[in-house]
Amino acid sequence: FSIPYPTNEPVLSYAPGSPEKAAIKAAIAELRSQEVDVPMYIGNELVRTDVKKKLSPPHDHQHVLGHFNYGDRSHAEKAVQAALDAKANWENLAWEHRAAIFLKAADLIAGPYRAKINAATMLGQSKNAYQAEIDAACEFIDFLRFNVHYMGEIYNQQPIVPGSPNTWNRTEQRPLEGFIFAITPFNFTAIAGNLPAAPAMMGNTVVWKPSETQIYAANVIMEVFREAGLPDGVINLIYVDGPEAGDVVFNHADFAGLHFTGSTGVFQHLWKTIGENIAKYKAYPRIVGETGGKDFVVAHKSANAQEVATGLVRGAFEFQGQKCSAASRAYIPANIWEDVKKYMQADLAEIKMGGTEDFTNFINAVIDEKAFDKIAGYIDQAKQDAGVELIAGGNHDKSTGYFIEPTVLRADDPKYRTMCEEIFGPVLTIHVYDPEKFEETLKLVDETSPYALTGAIFSKDRYAAELATKRLHQAAGNFYINDKPTGAVVGQQPFGGGRASGTNDKAGAMVNLLRWVSPRTVKENL
Ligand code: NAD
Ligand code: ALA
Repeated sequence: FSIPYPTNEPVLSYAPGSPEKAAIKAAIAELRSQEVDVPMYIGNELVRTDVKKKLSPPHDHQHVLGHFNYGDRSHAEKAVQAALDAKANWENLAWEHRAAIFLKAADLIAGPYRAKINAATMLGQSKNAYQAEIDAACEFIDFLRFNVHYMGEIYNQQPIVPGSPNTWNRTEQRPLEGFIFAITPFNFTAIAGNLPAAPAMMGNTVVWKPSETQIYAANVIMEVFREAGLPDGVINLIYVDGPEAGDVVFNHADFAGLHFTGSTGVFQHLWKTIGENIAKYKAYPRIVGETGGKDFVVAHKSANAQEVATGLVRGAFEFQGQKCSAASRAYIPANIWEDVKKYMQADLAEIKMGGTEDFTNFINAVIDEKAFDKIAGYIDQAKQDAGVELIAGGNHDKSTGYFIEPTVLRADDPKYRTMCEEIFGPVLTIHVYDPEKFEETLKLVDETSPYALTGAIFSKDRYAAELATKRLHQAAGNFYINDKPTGAVVGQQPFGGGRASGTNDKAGAMVNLLRWVSPRTVKENL
């Protein structure tokens, strides 16, 4: 029994007059008219507490979408117990039945839940309709369908190896022993859903702690999983302070693995905590983490200036730059710089910024006040620093929503802070280099890449493109030739990075699912 190779879910256009546009407008209006009371999901209980925290759209922070019920240590403990209680039935369920649940979840998102999950992502994370469609609908559906396909491949490839006469040998894939902790970031609904789903698919049970600024859509994900028939206790969703939940999980003997996406600093802290507790665990936990990025674009002197400018505007500013893959530093040769600048300024002059409900807005709000203050701080400092020129944008306003103009800086010093530090917002810094110093520039890019998530080379010269691909082979887990460094598609460009960007266990790929099983070899004398 094998599951056919899926095709990617087509991205709907949201063109004026399209049925999807009407559906999403209706879903937004409905969600805006309600005040949801979002529960935690622990075992068979929908848990509500006395501590209610507000949910608001980042682009309209006075509006109340509802509240979520904030838990404490006791809820983390209950969630761990619920995951352990559910484990035996779940891991013994034939994998085809687990597959059916996640395929049904994909179909529910593709059909009846599409407008709701997209609307929740638009309101909760301030993404426009097209960005929500790519994330919450298409990428999430693809994660589920492709992972189910890879899961089938894994279970079908449990080899039976001929041995010496009168023996036979086989290898079987077992789930990990214990429970998995999934910790998810604010910026992608698809990632939030995939991180608990991938280990669960492979027969594990999960405690899932989302980012507080992603809970509005996380609740819809959980509704989908439950409607798809996911048994109680397989995925337990809790809203508990990270360190408090971590203190419960990382001290538990049955902690079997961490599936994390978020910042490098948090991941390194969690890894250290796990290391300090290592002797407490029944088995060495699997640690899978996708973390920060400082993604680069290098142009060669042969590059087409218009293509570079378009790649930079889209790569840096789609999703408000709040994408781990976003272009945030660029190295442009002096011979094409004036043209690249002119094309970028022309493109940016046409870009509209505002709330997600106006479908013509390209730039929406950043996620919250903390992110806003951090990003605005970088911009304001850069405006004062010598050797830094403001090429576009630079304004920000948080009176009604957390809006930051797409901002382009040019830095003389290639090691200036905005060329090196992850800002995670709509800020792109450009260093203009001597076109005859291409090789030196590649060396510089590599040396200034403590992160290694995504990167791109624009070049019409095949030798230069090949040189960049070779010299930067450790500087990015996803590398693009003549394209922006964003927009990886599940099943086509498996996504993940090395160095301080993660363990590179590509999301939505077989390698990731293999981290959630532990093989057992059985030899039998016949
Ligand atoms: P974050 O690190 O602030 O938070 C991530 C998650 O960790 C949240 O759920 C948070 O509550 C939790 N957390 C924080 N401290 C914790 C602790 N001590 N114990 C347990 N949990 C804790 O990241 P974010 O702001 O939500 O997301 C942005 C970051 O994620 C960026 O650095 C971005 O590059 C990265 N990211 C990476 C990828 C990738 O694939 N490499 C994808 C998306 C986002
Ligand atoms: N997978 C997303 C991208 O490639 C983050 O842009």
